[in-house]
Amino acid sequence: MKYLVIGGAGYIGSVTVRRLLQAGHDVVVLDDLSTGHRAAVSAGAILVEGSYGNAADLARALAHGPIDGVLHFGARSLVGDSVRDPVTYYEANIGAATTLVRGVLGAGIRSFVFSSTAAVYGEPQQVPITEGHRTVPTNPYGWTKLAVEQLLMACGRSHGLRSVCLRYFNAAGASGELGEDHAPETHLIPVLLRNALRGGEPVTVFGRDYPTHDGTCVRDYIHVDDLASAHLRALEYLDGGGASDVFNLGNGSGFSVLEVIHTVEEVTDRQVNWIYGERREGDPARLVASSQKAQQILGWVPDRVRLSDIAGSAWAWHQAHPEGYATHSG
Ligand code: UFG
Repeated sequence: MKYLVIGGAGYIGSVTVRRLLQAGHDVVVLDDLSTGHRAAVSAGAILVEGSYGNAADLARALAHGPIDGVLHFGARSLVGDSVRDPVTYYEANIGAATTLVRGVLGAGIRSFVFSSTAAVYGEPQQVPITEGHRTVPTNPYGWTKLAVEQLLMACGRSHGLRSVCLRYFNAAGASGELGEDHAPETHLIPVLLRNALRGGEPVTVFGRDYPTHDGTCVRDYIHVDDLASAHLRALEYLDGGGASDVFNLGNGSGFSVLEVIHTVEEVTDRQVNWIYGERREGDPARLVASSQKAQQILGWVPDRVRLSDIAGSAWAWHQAHPEGYATHSG
């Protein structure tokens, strides 16, 4: 099969591209390299540099077809950023997605896997969160992802597009030579690892008065390898005639920010310099997945479930790439 991977130079996209190639598929990556890295794109994939929100760029990528399915990882994805600059998020995540979906439908592609997020749920009414939970996001990022989910569902009814929306919880960890390299970095685990590696300003723990066991936010950390394998399962599901659906991807266990700090200190055998600060706007207190549906319907079972393994794999990558991908590409 030949797949078009939007955002295939990014963190989760690049790991999935490598997995698709290993499974014997052909892969075309469309990425504008604004946050992704050329060095993260596996040699066997065709890289088209451009934006999925630009019809001409998209047409260049589709010209490498016929394409059997699309995986859409491309988005702006920072909760805090989306609160500060919602217009950019709506433009980038929804506006560009409409161009993408129009192009996909025009090319006759009817199979689509979308990177969605636990942020669509907002403040949970019950935990673990199942897919039937109400969706009332607490930040613009979550709303934009929800809108694209709705667009895909509508295109299912109007055009027969079959889609799987994968609601990731907190992606973390590294996969061999492929790791997490954002600029600026805001995600908890890499921020802590950079502090352990280089010192510098203390890491701020955002809020200590959440209704959790230690007052800090609880998240469900899921290894990037497990996210990648879920995408292959989703493609098999669609290929087998599966109907459009949404699935949570998480481990089902929650860790507070303080627990993550503790694990990072254990794994690195270094102390992290951190302080308490104000809450970050848009952060729900506790996000923990029920992934039973993905297990039952997709046959997906996460493999790298221990937080120490997740943080340890990321630590190995940070040590090997102290300047991120720039360590090797110049
Ligand atoms: N945190 C800190 N200090 C930091 C960074 C993060 O205390 O310097 C806290 C956050 O407040 C949050 C937790 O650590 O409680 C995790 O924060 P991240 O920024 O690593 O991740 P988020 O939970 O904000 O968001 C991530 C993805 C989103 C996705 C969400 C789903 O970036 O795309 O997980 O759970 F929607």
